[in-house]
Amino acid sequence: MTEPARRGFSGEVAENYARFRRGYPPPVVDALAEAFGLDRTDVAVDLGCGTGQLTLPLAERLRAVVGVDPEPDMLRLAAATARERGVRTASWMMGFDSDLPTLAALLGPGAVAAVTAATAIHWMDHRALFASARALLRDGGGVAVVTNGDPLWLQASDWSRTLRAVLAEWTGKDVGWACGTDEESRAGYRAAMVDAGYEAGETRVEYEADLDVEGIVGLMFSAMSTKDVADPVRRNDFAGRVRAALAPRTRFVEHVTVVVQTGVLEK
Ligand SMILES: C[S@@+](CC[C@H](N)C(=O)[O-])C[C@H]1O[C@@H](n2cnc3c(N)ncnc32)[C@H](O)[C@@H]1O
Repeated sequence: MTEPARRGFSGEVAENYARFRRGYPPPVVDALAEAFGLDRTDVAVDLGCGTGQLTLPLAERLRAVVGVDPEPDMLRLAAATARERGVRTASWMMGFDSDLPTLAALLGPGAVAAVTAATAIHWMDHRALFASARALLRDGGGVAVVTNGDPLWLQASDWSRTLRAVLAEWTGKDVGWACGTDEESRAGYRAAMVDAGYEAGETRVEYEADLDVEGIVGLMFSAMSTKDVADPVRRNDFAGRVRAALAPRTRFVEHVTVVVQTGVLEK
């Protein structure tokens, strides 16, 4: 059997991810808790957990959360962050969204209150995922698709448009893919939830983030593929271009809208 494709989230990308990517503010976990009636007796599975951006705040509120990701570097850094923060209710599994049926067999029917995919659903077969999650979910539990704002280079601000131009020139590619954060993708996830028998809902949480140039460079590296950032010369070239294009400004404000799409299962 062939392994599903990894997406180049190892090495430098994972390091930048752990260092620069923001987690989700408390109202995001509140929205999940409200939708699925989560409490300390519950277990969740966070698919595409990365370095634990959603896994860890969820784990602080539940009995246990399993973070699943195909990249060992992401999982290693997630586990290190959990240790640093003293979170003992998170556990880590190397795997893909397609491993959900195995998890269902392992944990048993109704064992899980929520299956989440945060800034990760665009790498997954969401229809298969919503269907296979049903076997795992308890009554009133469900699936959630969470996004943490638009990609940094696709936002409605001058500095974001500048970044987009730098990125397009550097990669020589169209950099317009919104990674599942656009309304059309969201409508598709919603329709797929309804088709799979879930009651669909949505909550938006807005916040502002302050960024400096090094934060922007780090966030950009966290969103690239490992092959783009592995070579230090190429990496420095990109960082230099971003710094030059954004100068003389040193501080930037990002208006972030987190969208939490939920599908609640009434068995
Ligand atoms: C952009 S990161 C998101 C990390 C984190 N959940 C967050 O909200 O910031 C996407 C993650 O999805 C993982 N991934 C890619 N394909 C996947 C798949 N088929 N199944 C599970 N995870 C996958 C990547 O390794 C990466 O860690």
